[in-house]
Amino acid sequence: STRPVRHFLKDTDLSPAEQAEVLELAARMKAAPYSVQPFAAAASGRKTVAVIFDKTSTRTRVSFATGIADMGGNPLIINPGEAQIGHKESVEDTAKVLERMVSTIVWRTGAHAGLVAMAENSRVPVINALCDDYHPCQLLADLLTIKEHKGELNGLTMAYLGDSANNMANSYLLAGVTAGMNVRIAGPDGYLPSPEIIAAAEDRAAETGGSVLVTIDPAEALLGADVVATDTWVSMGQEAEKEARMKLFRNYSVDAQAMKLAAPDAVVLHCLPAYRGYEIAADVIDGPQSVVWDEAENRLHAQKALMAWLMHRSGLAVVDGLA
Ligand code: CP
Ligand code: NVA
Repeated sequence: STRPVRHFLKDTDLSPAEQAEVLELAARMKAAPYSVQPFAAAASGRKTVAVIFDKTSTRTRVSFATGIADMGGNPLIINPGEAQIGHKESVEDTAKVLERMVSTIVWRTGAHAGLVAMAENSRVPVINALCDDYHPCQLLADLLTIKEHKGELNGLTMAYLGDSANNMANSYLLAGVTAGMNVRIAGPDGYLPSPEIIAAAEDRAAETGGSVLVTIDPAEALLGADVVATDTWVSMGQEAEKEARMKLFRNYSVDAQAMKLAAPDAVVLHCLPAYRGYEIAADVIDGPQSVVWDEAENRLHAQKALMAWLMHRSGLAVVDGLA
């Protein structure tokens, strides 16, 4: 192929037009789940996708395995600690081996730099299935869900409350403004997105007409919001800080009182797993405004579209209807 390989390591790796194209493909494939077969039809004939986990997972593992099988591929799931990568072998050497056999590499890991090194050494697409800094596949599912419930993404206001220094906060900010949304992030001092992430989001917002607000005041973020999102206060790897974090984020809970400030028809998102009574109240996540089960299902549809789109754009398969 003469096309350079495309990777998806962070939300802004897709331009606004490309993100819209992936979401449109996801909606098309949700309606016709077996209509796109990039692995069966791969130019290389390769069927296997390596899906590597350095951290645990339910949704990511099941949605990738299911989606790869749906599209004529063979999911090779590598669970934490099962491969040589990270203890006996470098990321670079692992990439150079995998890219000679598989059609795509999906990886959940800690440091984003590892994903960059994997991508730099791979002629097949590399997909970030969550790292310490981003969870971009989750945001494709979230945006698909919002689109289904609200019709349009452009111009909507989305509030994220809680641990605003984590992977989900960064991805809400970057993917949200890419879609032209007004994204408001609220968390305590010291637990807000880094200046680099805010600058990247502001650049993107200037391109799309979206906007960025970062605040320590949850009410300022919530007021009139069309979408309210949160995530665990204790991400994978932070278990030792659990007690301190429970106190730190106490005022950023998405509960019934918080929801009174949002638009009356606001939808509520949570990537799951959820801790009821902490970042989200049981009556909110299990209530009528919650769309979290659609959101979880949409991991499947969004990631199928992403894999097909990356294969197509890298010249490794042909998906009908894509330029
Ligand atoms: N939301 C999400 O990524 O869930 P898992 O950790 O179960 O994959
Ligand atoms: N912020 C959470 C997301 C889990 C899907 C974590 O990194 O553990």
